Amino acid sequence: MTITTDFLLAEMATCRQQTLAIFDAVAESLCYVQGHPEFSPIGWHLGHIAYTESLWLLPSPWQQKLSIPAAKAYFSVENLPKSNRSYLPPLTEIIKYCQEVRELVWHLADRFTTDQQKLLLFLLQHESQHREIICYVLHMLGHPITGIPAAIPAAVIGQTITIPGGEFRQGSDDIWALDNERQPFLSYVDEFSIDVHPITRGQYQEFMEAGGYDRQELWSVNGWQWRQQHLDIRQPRYWQVQGLTDDHPVYGVSFYEAEAYAKFGGKRLPTEAEWEKSCSYLPDFNYVYQWTQTKFHAYPGFQFFPYAGYSATYFDDQHYVLRGKSWQSQKWTDRPTFRNWYHPHVRDIFVGIRCVTPGSAN
Ligand code: AVJ
Ligand code: FE
Repeated sequence: MTITTDFLLAEMATCRQQTLAIFDAVAESLCYVQGHPEFSPIGWHLGHIAYTESLWLLPSPWQQKLSIPAAKAYFSVENLPKSNRSYLPPLTEIIKYCQEVRELVWHLADRFTTDQQKLLLFLLQHESQHREIICYVLHMLGHPITGIPAAIPAAVIGQTITIPGGEFRQGSDDIWALDNERQPFLSYVDEFSIDVHPITRGQYQEFMEAGGYDRQELWSVNGWQWRQQHLDIRQPRYWQVQGLTDDHPVYGVSFYEAEAYAKFGGKRLPTEAEWEKSCSYLPDFNYVYQWTQTKFHAYPGFQFFPYAGYSATYFDDQHYVLRGKSWQSQKWTDRPTFRNWYHPHVRDIFVGIRCVTPGSAN
């Protein structure tokens, strides 16, 4: 392993600064607000980041001596429904708890083994993902600091690229790869053409203006069922956010909306294999994640790390894979093999659409 504990701790310190910077700019009362039934309050996320770190790195007797000895009752996932995550210590105490955990980790660090370095790699990416989810929750609450994605350069809007068929190496055994990216395997895809960039709001507006939300023939069976349950939904979740133009990527769509948009254009969503293969042929326009048509599943030879609840719990045929990243992702999860996943009805996140044109090879 060429990565040192010192390097990882420095990266973790940088990540922590960026996490805490969010809380500097937020009123404390926002920390306890559940923006959406599927998402926890941001104060819970902050405590959960430190609690998870203590769980994997500190001897358990030490955990009891921290200033929030009941951290498990506040910040765990199991046996703590999201609706019960608003009863939290004051923000200053959560921040103090974060610092205590980190100081103890520093004390232990010169004796860290390779196994503990692997945990650091996990914890860094764990915090990074929770930081991004904090941004989703703030965006849901209409908080301005989460910003907006970059606009797609006008010169490439509407372009597609043809990717040759054949085998490629999907997944990764890089030191940074999380359990669900392992082990790499040979994956075959036929030739296909894919959008060069996530589709823009201008492109999505054509679907809306053509009555896309009311045309059952454009929706899958499950999608239409979802549509009937949410008749109030007639535009993407973040359509009205200030500053967005026609050239910005559309985001805040469910998997079902993404599917219907694709069908409207005579297209379909990419498989995750197609998405990953296309990456090496394209500039990086991943300002928002993109839905794929692939359900989250285990790669051959999957072994969980560090716990089954990170990925394996979600190999349930109920979640779809998102690929790419968002403007609030950080470098630690930014790679072509990274896999994100959500239920198909979730649309409050920074996810958009990229399509494949079937039979477009010529
Ligand atoms: C990969 C973003 C779906 O939020 O459940 C955080 C990341 N897992 N803590 C999630 C995660 C455990 C995960 N997602
Ligand atoms: Fe977590």
